[in-house]
Amino acid sequence: MFEEAQYFAPVAEQGDGSVVVELAASHPGFADQVYRARRNAIAALAVNHRLGEPIPAAEYTEQEHEIWALVAGELAIKHRKYATAEYLDGAARLGLPDERIPQLEEVSELLEPLTGFRYLPAAGLVPLRDFYGVLADGYFHSTQYIRHHSVPFYTPEPDVIHEVIGHANALANDRFAALYRLAGAAARRVESEEALEFVSKVFWFTMEFGVMAESDELRAYGAGILSSYGEVEEFRGMDIRPLDLREMGRTQYDITKYQDVLFRAESMQHLEDVVGAFWETCDDDTIASLT
Ligand SMILES: [Fe+2]
Repeated sequence: MFEEAQYFAPVAEQGDGSVVVELAASHPGFADQVYRARRNAIAALAVNHRLGEPIPAAEYTEQEHEIWALVAGELAIKHRKYATAEYLDGAARLGLPDERIPQLEEVSELLEPLTGFRYLPAAGLVPLRDFYGVLADGYFHSTQYIRHHSVPFYTPEPDVIHEVIGHANALANDRFAALYRLAGAAARRVESEEALEFVSKVFWFTMEFGVMAESDELRAYGAGILSSYGEVEEFRGMDIRPLDLREMGRTQYDITKYQDVLFRAESMQHLEDVVGAFWETCDDDTIASLT
C-alpha cells in the first residue's frame, strides 16, 4: 500500500505539559519506542524555549553520534566534487565537528562571529511568516532530532543533518547569509499569503534546491541537495532551467520526492542580481505582476 511520506511530523502539546511527536506509520522510527521518547523530549525543548535563552542540549545516543559521523563524512567527500565554492568556503570557516552531532547552541557560537546568525530550536513545522521573518534578524529555526539509525542515509523530515550541514555551512558564508537575511526582510514586507508563498517558493528553489554554474560544470548550493546523500549525486541529471522568478513561483514541487526541476544561476553574482534584488524590493504588487 502506498503511504504518503510526511514532511514535518506534527507535534502535539498535551494537557499535562508533555509533548508528543506524531510520527507516521511509514516513518523508520515509528515502532521504536526508545527513539520516540527521545523525539518527544527533544521537541519539548523547542516548545519550552524562549528567545534570548541558550538552547537546551538535546540528548543523543552514541549510535546517533555515529550516524552523524558516517553521513557527515560521506557528504564532505561529495561536497568537494559537487558543492559551490561559496558553500565550501562557509564549511571551511565554520568547522563543524565531524565525529559527533553538535548542539544547536554550539552551532550558534561558531556561526555568530562569522555572519551574525544564531540558531533557534524548532519542534517541527514553523509557520512560514515566523520561519522566514526571523531570518531578517539573523535567526535560523532548526530541528534538533536526528534521523532513525536503521536508515542513516534517509530521512522523511528535515533533521539536524539537513539543518546544520545543509544550512549552517551556507550561513557561514557572507554572501549566502546576506541572501537569507533578504529573504527574511521580504517575508516581513509582503502582506498577502499568496505573496508570502511566492517568497517561500523562490527560497525553496534557491536556498534549498539551487544549483549554479561554476568552471563549466553544474554545482549545488541548496541545503536540500547538499544534505541528501542521494540527491547530491543526481542533481546534474534533473530538469535544469534558467533562473527565473516567475517560473519558480509557478512550479509545483513535491517535498516527498527527489526535486526533479531545478533552477540554475550562472554565478553567485547572477543569483544576487536576480533573487537578492527581488527579495530586497519585492512587495505584494510586484509579486502579483509575476503571477
Ligand atoms: Fe531546509
